[in-house]
Amino acid sequence: MLIAGNWKLHKGPAETAEFCRALRETDLGDADVVVCTPFVSLAGAVSTLAGTEIGVAAQNVHWAEQGAFTGEVSPGMLRELGVYGTIVGHSERRQYFGETDETVARRVRAALAAGLFVIACVGESEEERDAGETELVLRVQTEAIADAAVDGHENLVIAYEPVWAIGTGRTATPEIAQEAHVFIKSILDLPVLYGGSVNPDNASDLCAQHAVDGALVGGASLVLESFAAICRASSNS
Ligand code: PGA
Repeated sequence: MLIAGNWKLHKGPAETAEFCRALRETDLGDADVVVCTPFVSLAGAVSTLAGTEIGVAAQNVHWAEQGAFTGEVSPGMLRELGVYGTIVGHSERRQYFGETDETVARRVRAALAAGLFVIACVGESEEERDAGETELVLRVQTEAIADAAVDGHENLVIAYEPVWAIGTGRTATPEIAQEAHVFIKSILDLPVLYGGSVNPDNASDLCAQHAVDGALVGGASLVLESFAAICRASSNS
């Protein structure tokens, strides 16, 4: 099971160093663990977690290696820091920062080409689910990612994050997650993480679904005890 903590806009360098020092000493079961920190905290996380199996990832990456792209960070820059991977296409980027399937695809392609591990996110909104459009939305989003990964998939996983479940406490039922994951895998046969209000109480049931290969955890990844409990719960399922 892969458990990735998406810290979003939380934890600057000092808090990151403190958290990662404690994470090194914590029982995480058998989970493969990744922390996705803000850009400014990546270097500290990489050095604090050096020599451990815990990966450090960014939350976004640009597609160009360099150029006139004010405010952006390139795949090569992340590699130079020793960063393992990156999230791409999170729904908050789609919702608030104009991310489209096309820009997601460009980021995925560039990140994979640079040798980064990529967690590419897909998921339907509540309106789309209510309108019976879940499969259509997942198909379009997943196909865009598949097209970007024609040169190889081994460093790519998908995160299924229904938008209505993110940060709302309204987790998808294990059955809903299972059904969506099976559908995504029918388009692109890759590991699929579930994301959306994962916590220590629901992690084990979600991860017990055979099409669920791990979790992308937001809020509950910010507190060491709950993050570690999710990692341990996933390893038992
Ligand atoms: P949440 O966020 O666990 O706080 O719902 C998940 C995510 O957005 O990756």
